[in-house]
Amino acid sequence: MIESEALSRRHLAACAVARQAGDMMRRLFQNRSGIEMSFKGPQDYLTQADAAVEKLVRQRLAEAFPQDKFLGEEGGGEVSQSMWVVDPIDGTSNFARGIPHFCISIAYALDQTPEIGVIYDPMTDEMFEAQRGAGGRVNGRPMKTSDATKMEYCQIELGWSSRRTNDAYLAIVRRVLEAGASFRRAGSGALGIAYVADGRSDGYAELHINSWDCLAGIVMVKEAGGYANDFLAGDGMLKGNPILVAAPGVAQALIKLTGIGSKVMA
Ligand code: IPD
Repeated sequence: MIESEALSRRHLAACAVARQAGDMMRRLFQNRSGIEMSFKGPQDYLTQADAAVEKLVRQRLAEAFPQDKFLGEEGGGEVSQSMWVVDPIDGTSNFARGIPHFCISIAYALDQTPEIGVIYDPMTDEMFEAQRGAGGRVNGRPMKTSDATKMEYCQIELGWSSRRTNDAYLAIVRRVLEAGASFRRAGSGALGIAYVADGRSDGYAELHINSWDCLAGIVMVKEAGGYANDFLAGDGMLKGNPILVAAPGVAQALIKLTGIGSKVMA
């Protein structure tokens, strides 16, 4: 059984590693003309920077916590009782196209329960972090989801990838718009979810997302008083699942509109 002191050590270490990785990412972004960019598949970028940042994070966490396992977007990994789940650059297509909206996302899960979430945006120097039961903060300021209750006043981020059909995506866009909300797609699921935790947007939904993109953010949204669906159901850790996070006052409406998640308990 890992005690709270061990969790706090991991929380502090994750913040330090995220900042170090973020500094590296910012330097690489500012000098990206020398970086090799390719595609893993249609609309799915891979840059040399993703691998370099993941290598640094893997090394640092393995030095500090040799007993923990690691699951990363680039190098893969395995599910284990005590594990790190990392996306070295979330928002890779923004990074590759010169758009300064991307981050590093680090989650720690114990017995398949996400305990710690750290998301660092190196371009705005914002450190979003949370630990289960201990609240969530951005640069030290407590985070709280928005108090939205009416879709007509909401802005919802609807993530998109080529892993699901355009018809399915467009049906959700239509329903969200018809309910009166506005929507955006900014290209970083991790930041989109952190923004829900901080009340900057009222919900984030995507028909398929991977654990490294969303696990850290899920800890934050829950700690900030919001709703998150049961993302890890089935084989969510390795294969991904749909995601819905939302401010509590619009969670039920978004479950209905997106078809993701189940009834919010009163
Ligand atoms: C992607 C981004 C995007 C989301 C995709 C992810 P990547 O991750 O988070 O916003 O819609 O589902 O795959 O490729 O930038 O790490």
